[in-house]
Amino acid sequence: MRLLFLGDIVGRPGRAVVANLLPGLVDRHRLDFVIINGENAAGGFGITEEIVQDVLDAGADVITTGNHAFDQREALVFAERQPRFLRPVNFPAGTPGRGANLFVARNGARVLVVNVMGRVFMDALDDPFAALDREVAACPLGEQADAIVIDFHAEATSEKQAAAHHLDGRVSLVVGTHTHVPTADHRILPGGTAYQSDAGMCGDYDSVLGMEKEEPVRRFLTKIPSGRFSPASGEGTLCGIAVEIDEATGLAKAVAPLAIGGVLEQRLPPFWA
Ligand SMILES: [Fe+2]
Ligand SMILES: [Fe+2]
Repeated sequence: MRLLFLGDIVGRPGRAVVANLLPGLVDRHRLDFVIINGENAAGGFGITEEIVQDVLDAGADVITTGNHAFDQREALVFAERQPRFLRPVNFPAGTPGRGANLFVARNGARVLVVNVMGRVFMDALDDPFAALDREVAACPLGEQADAIVIDFHAEATSEKQAAAHHLDGRVSLVVGTHTHVPTADHRILPGGTAYQSDAGMCGDYDSVLGMEKEEPVRRFLTKIPSGRFSPASGEGTLCGIAVEIDEATGLAKAVAPLAIGGVLEQRLPPFWA
């Protein structure tokens, strides 16, 4: 089974590269399931229902988020009626929407996707480890789920690595989001779970985390905000991780990073050839 996970969509360059490239990739490489983090898709802050639909139309099966899930207020409403939109599962009880859901991939596999947020250098939330244990126990690999993917939205690589080792052998993929920078540590852990600390972003990398450089640089130099953050407007990179999943076990057989377009080194998974 072929799965693609793409990092945070940031602004128009991220939306454009998803709309322009994803349909062809799904088609050409017969992708069974596509997950995209969309938390910065609307001008860098949150996502609208219209963008959710555009991303789904481009070939995504699920849109995950993180700390920016509800930056666009309308998400409080559509989160309830859009089962393919996930916000962190460990948000407080009563938060609209859901943090985990079971989907059917194009090959017929049942895929559990869980979106969770870390707590190190982030907001104080419910324990993400307990939340993951609960979600995976409710829908175990090899029983109710044929594949399980965790989007661990967090700042600290330590927290993401710890979560991956804690879940090793129980899920197909643990991938980090939020830092917008792809890490070079993609691998399959001893128990068979694929892992990458951060998938990167779909956006313009000639920027500071997808935002125009000038204002963040000024704030670091002077500590005086003198404008708003707005997404950079150059060519975006489609950036993420591809996983080949063993249909018999739900564990990873191969994992490789992907980057297409923009200023990053171009990378296509070798097993897609
Ligand atoms: Fe983000
Ligand atoms: Fe984030």
